Amino acid sequence: MESITIEKIQNWKRNKKKFSAITAYDFSFAKLFENAGVPIILIGDSLGMTIQGHTSTLSVKIKDMEYHTKLVRKGAPKTFLLSDLPFMSYYEIKQTLKNTAKVIQAGANMIKIEGGKWLIETVKELSNRSILVCGHIGLTPQSVHYLSGYKIQGNEKNDEKRIIEEAFLLEEAGIKMLVVECIPALLAKKISKNLSIPVIGIGSGKYTDGQILVMQDLLGMNEGKKPKFAKNFLHKNGSIQDAIKKYISEVKKGIFPNEKYSF
Ligand code: KIV
Repeated sequence: MESITIEKIQNWKRNKKKFSAITAYDFSFAKLFENAGVPIILIGDSLGMTIQGHTSTLSVKIKDMEYHTKLVRKGAPKTFLLSDLPFMSYYEIKQTLKNTAKVIQAGANMIKIEGGKWLIETVKELSNRSILVCGHIGLTPQSVHYLSGYKIQGNEKNDEKRIIEEAFLLEEAGIKMLVVECIPALLAKKISKNLSIPVIGIGSGKYTDGQILVMQDLLGMNEGKKPKFAKNFLHKNGSIQDAIKKYISEVKKGIFPNEKYSF
């Protein structure tokens, strides 16, 4: 497999080829995912919940992201790696640059930050320094208290307008990819259609350019508190490798997510 670059991902968008992404946090799973053909891995701050056992992502530190990014890069040398900057690690520019350097030096191709308008200057500063930035709007887990929980966003007209505006402003500021989390499928469609950068959805319906799932959700490890949009691909599908291949194939063919897994 050739290394995955941002240029390749942009071409998939241009050619309407749907692509998949998954979270990973360690060497073994990263290796398995790369071998199964997942092109993009997110070292998500969801590790606060999936690895550390907290109820939110808020306690994750930059040293955690650096550590897990290093492990994932060892297992997936050719995969495009996206690393989250965790809560309060990018509130001012000097600190943002320092923390970005840490995850990039640990092996990330791109950093991901959560938020809308308030991030415009940050995105410009990073882009001017040739750092690849992915935005994250809709349900932003680092704002869980402000949002009063993990809920769908953009249902109200005003919210929908704000989310669209945020997407455009972030693209204009220089993000090269965008994650939209838990927004209605038709809103995600509007955003994906009108932005020139690749848009990756989670819980946002089938119309985005790519899909991402948290690996524990995809492998059915969160039964009991499974979000509506999470499909267990391991169920009745044999091995973890087979489950991942089924996920990749269903995303490519536009089978996943169907209405059952969308808002
Ligand atoms: O941290 C994470 O895993 C994420 C995904 C939910 C997109 O940001």
